[in-house]
Amino acid sequence: MLPARLVTPIPGSEHLETRNRSEAKLSDHNMRIELRELGSHVGDEVVIEGWVQTVRAHAKVAFVVVRDGTGLVQAVMGRQDVDPATWEAATTVTQESTLVVTGTVRKEPRAPGGYEIGVSRFTVLAPGGEFPIQPKEHGVDFLLDHRHLWLRSTQQRAILRVRAEVEQAIHDYFYERGFVRIDTPILTGAIGESAGTLFETDYFGERAFLAQTGQLYVEAAAAAFRKVYCFGPTFRAEKSKTRRHLTEFWMLEPEVAFADSNDNMRLQEDLLTYLVQRALERCGEELTVLERDTTLLERVRPPFPRVSYTEAVARLQAAGSSIQWGEDLGAEDETKLAAYELPVFIYNYPREAKAFYMKENPDDPRTVLCNDLLAPEGYGEIIGGSQREDDLDKLLARIREEHLPEAAYNWYLDLRRYGTFPHSGFGLGLERTVAWITGRHHVRELIPFPRMLHRLTP
Ligand code: 4AD
Ligand code: MG
Repeated sequence: MLPARLVTPIPGSEHLETRNRSEAKLSDHNMRIELRELGSHVGDEVVIEGWVQTVRAHAKVAFVVVRDGTGLVQAVMGRQDVDPATWEAATTVTQESTLVVTGTVRKEPRAPGGYEIGVSRFTVLAPGGEFPIQPKEHGVDFLLDHRHLWLRSTQQRAILRVRAEVEQAIHDYFYERGFVRIDTPILTGAIGESAGTLFETDYFGERAFLAQTGQLYVEAAAAAFRKVYCFGPTFRAEKSKTRRHLTEFWMLEPEVAFADSNDNMRLQEDLLTYLVQRALERCGEELTVLERDTTLLERVRPPFPRVSYTEAVARLQAAGSSIQWGEDLGAEDETKLAAYELPVFIYNYPREAKAFYMKENPDDPRTVLCNDLLAPEGYGEIIGGSQREDDLDKLLARIREEHLPEAAYNWYLDLRRYGTFPHSGFGLGLERTVAWITGRHHVRELIPFPRMLHRLTP
């Protein structure tokens, strides 16, 4: 039986929780805790809930490693210390069965997690069945088909915790700097990036698209709040089967009024440094589980190297590449260019290689004021950003050149009709960024339920 009073605390009610706990301790010695709190309960009798990770049963003693999502503990039981039914339950329980265990917490440096619980009561709430994922090698398709169960594994939990920390760090960074968070629509009428990669849907008889970007909307909001950002899911019907592509991914998009392309790059390097530092400071355990070599991450500090597109092409050509000025950089080119310890900016691409909204470079109108940020260690582009075209006529000409449906952009052009202003912004791909931070090869592990070409389930 669980003590009814000890429910999960409501934020802000910590004092109540403490009072209830100490009452419980005095009255029934029955303290329900989360495993992350074990360290402050050495010597206490506690109640824990969780799932069986592993079982080792010997003749006289059994060890059950329990995972509750906040930590791990080894539950230890001597055959002579419990009744036969409890012994039977503990020695036959299978992986992923759900448990409630009562026992006394002890420090045990040899146990996974550093503590153990000497069991007095052991209740199996539900059997684990024949859990499909076993401690052996499985193919990645099998694991992705079982993503709903795969999430429980040690590495996947570590990866998603780093993701969650980086997401929180993003919000903290912008909140602390006075940005206003703007939630942009997912159902849109205007194409944000390129017509080639749209998911189309029917919107009461009208054509609608799943947003490829929130950018056009944060541009509108920048005129209302100066510094804004959106952070949400974005959709690309990309038929690419690479380690860097998802069809649904999360993108952070800041937009800043009166910022030029250089200000934009400074914001990017400052933000990225902050995110890496946060992961290093608060996710040390996770990065250890993932065997991430953090030496390069520790060196991430502004300023990041900057290479113009024109210079980049010259370097690639000198290294034997057949790339011609005007072509976009491929993944291989990016890897060659990112041969620095730090992420590197490639700036001012030819306008044909980039989206319609980027501002013409006054010093070389063949190019636009933009940048990609390439991560080291072969991770490629993690950020794409630009100063925006704020000249009405030039923007309109670009929309026509790209054969975009002009009427759908009328509201966007209004931003250039009514108090147009210099502004810049960028999009940071969350999964690619966290893949680099965690050292994972493929972005599919960086999102709880990946959507990719031929993968919609689970
Ligand atoms: O370079 P992109 O397409 O830029 C934009 O969408 C702009 N509207 C952003 C802006 O200026 N507000 O995408 C930005 C980033 C890429 O650098 C990459 O990290 C990520 O989004 N990204 C993807 N991540 C995973 N799967 C895909 N298919 C991705 N496409 C882009
Ligand atoms: Mg890009």
